[in-house]
Parts: sequence; structure tokens; C-alpha cells
Amino acid sequence: MSKRVRSIVVLISGRGSNLAALVDYAQNSPDFVVAGVVSNRADAPGLAFASSQGIPTEVVDHALFGSREAFEHALAGVVDLFKSDAVVLAGFMRILTPSFVNRYAGRLINIHPSLLPAFPGLNTHERALEAGVRVHGATVHLVTAQLDHGPILDQAVVQVHENDTPEALARRVLELEHRMLPRAVSAFLHGKLKAKGERVPGALRLPLLTALSTTVAPE
Ligand code: GAR
Repeated sequence: MSKRVRSIVVLISGRGSNLAALVDYAQNSPDFVVAGVVSNRADAPGLAFASSQGIPTEVVDHALFGSREAFEHALAGVVDLFKSDAVVLAGFMRILTPSFVNRYAGRLINIHPSLLPAFPGLNTHERALEAGVRVHGATVHLVTAQLDHGPILDQAVVQVHENDTPEALARRVLELEHRMLPRAVSAFLHGKLKAKGERVPGALRLPLLTALSTTVAPE
């Protein structure tokens, strides 16, 4: 593998804490650079953070387009400006059409706050608590045309506590997301995580990030 520095473009819609984790990682290692940040919302706090770090930002406001296709055409035009090795969806809250997904096939990465294939879609922490699962977590995966589906690059696992709330669970999952996403992106960019059909065999060799306890809660 050549020593060329790999680069990513990060798509966000809001807070941008996963973006911050990627930037922090990139600033402290030669693994990759964050070439640009694109948001579909002009008021996304993650944009101000990126600017404060000297990272170029762009906004493609979905509300200004008459169709999903027109929005995605403009979005792809901006994403392509950054000529990146991978496109990372870090809290990007728009459903993407197969046409956009296929354009970046094999180099479009998403982080989702559940142990996929459980709980695709929204409100994952609430739904995990309602379902009574004992473990919950987050997944980094390659994006396919099916929503929140695709070859798994990494997963991180937290334990569900008695009297957990969606907010508390979200906080614990997010802490692991911040550690998992940069590590998975780096491993992917350096050829350590390659999809073979529906699976990424190398994913099983990464140390599992967990927040688990083996003690049994008292009755
Ligand atoms: C993260 O928890 C991410 O996993 C989730 O949105 C949050 C964004 O937070 N993504 C999805 O739900 C995508 N389906 P952030 O803006 O602070 O990174």
C-alpha cells in the first residue's frame, strides 16, 4: 500500500460529535485527513466546529430542492469536489437513494446507533429499551441501497442497565461511537477491512469495544 495520505469527506446534519472524534483522531495520527465537511443543514453545530479547525465546509440544504434526486445531484457535486477516498456519514439524517449510494459504492461508510441488523431507523435507544434487550451498541458499516444495512466494519457493545433511560443509554453508546468510528475508518482506508460479499472478515480481528460487566445485578 502506498504512503499517500488518505482523505475523507464527512457528511453531517447536526451536533457533529462523531465528526469531532474523526478530526481529533486525524490531527493526532498520520492515518487520514478530513478534507471537508458537508451538511444538509446550515445550522448544524458541527459546521462551526469544522471551520474552527480550518476544515472547508459546504452546505447543501435539502429544503431548497424540489426532489430527492435534485438534492442528491447537488450533494454529489459538492462531495466530489473534495476528491476523497471515502465518504463518511456521521449523523447524516437524510435517506439516500440507490443512485447516490451506487455512485460511492464500496467507499460510503455510515455509523448507526444500534447493533445492526437490530433497530434500523430512528429512536434506536428507546426501541432497544422497549424490546428489553440486555446489550445494545453501535455499528459502522458500508452503505448499501437498503437503509441501515450493509457489510459491518465494526460494532461496539454496551450493557443495558436496570432503570436505564434512552438518554443515559445514548450517552454510553456515543462514547463508544467516538472510539469506534475513527478506528474503523482508518482500518478501512488502509485496506484492513475489505468486504467479501455481505461480510467484512477483517472486522472480527479488531478488539471488541465494550462497556460490559459480568456481575449480576442484585434481585
Ligand atoms: C450518532 O449517534 C449517530 O450514530 C447517529 O446520529 C448521532 C449523531 O451524533 N446516526 C444515525 O442515527 C444515522 N441513522 P453526532 O452528530 O454528535 O455525531
